[in-house]
Amino acid sequence: MSNLSPEADRQPPPTHVAIIMDGNGRWAKARGLPRVAGHQRGVDALRGVVEAGQEMEIDFLTLYAFSSENWKRPPTEVDDLMGLLRLYLRREMRELHRNGVRIRFIGEWQELAPDIVKLIEDAERTTAENKGLTLIIAVNYGSHREIVEASRRIAAAVAQGAMNLADIDEANFARHLHTDGIPDPDLVIRTSGEQRLSNFLLWQAGYAELVFMDVLWPDFTKKSLEQAVEEFHRRERRYGASTS
Ligand code: IPE
Ligand code: IPE
Ligand code: MG
Repeated sequence: MSNLSPEADRQPPPTHVAIIMDGNGRWAKARGLPRVAGHQRGVDALRGVVEAGQEMEIDFLTLYAFSSENWKRPPTEVDDLMGLLRLYLRREMRELHRNGVRIRFIGEWQELAPDIVKLIEDAERTTAENKGLTLIIAVNYGSHREIVEASRRIAAAVAQGAMNLADIDEANFARHLHTDGIPDPDLVIRTSGEQRLSNFLLWQAGYAELVFMDVLWPDFTKKSLEQAVEEFHRRERRYGASTS
């Protein structure tokens, strides 16, 4: 039986929900705690939203965990964030696998510490055939670089004669992005009241519905996700066409 509110229950959930998990620092500051405490509680919220995504039968859930610009933060905070990623992968993988979750990473994660790279490779390999929710974690991710790298690979293929200039089209270009094989997000949620994309899924979110919520990420619950989905259902997606 579904626990969804009647409104959210009437319509199928969006296929792909992407979330910019923002506000950990402000959550901690408001309580006089160090930023790391906010990030720790942020991981709890993340665990909850993955569970909620499964219950709501969302097929693809993308979570922005660390941007390519987040390296600008003090080294201790970066270490804390990497430490939490490491812990999450070590502690949660078995349970996620048991629940049929398929895990994928986007971003330049190969540049992270070797032990994290190995944990990521293991997680992707172990869960590759799972048929439940696809959980996509964006780490060291930035759309500008993703798009530049895709252009570079396409240019190399053309230079080597493996591809013709005329073959470059939108579908082909998208296959060179990190999200190859993943449908574009229908709904992008950002918490903490900020209203920007911060270099997240710029190509892929071209026609996503954007929902900005004031809740700080550590306070985000299944109810918050349901509210965002309800808002999504109130929107009319036109893709440039006129209304009937
Ligand atoms: C989001 O919370 C977590 C990451 C960006 C890794 P922030 O750390 O950005 O929290 P605020 O925006 O400072 O409140
Ligand atoms: C975006 O949040 C990145 C993540 C949530 C991982 P930031 O807090 O880094 O974004 P800005 O700096 O406010 O744009
Ligand atoms: Mg922030």
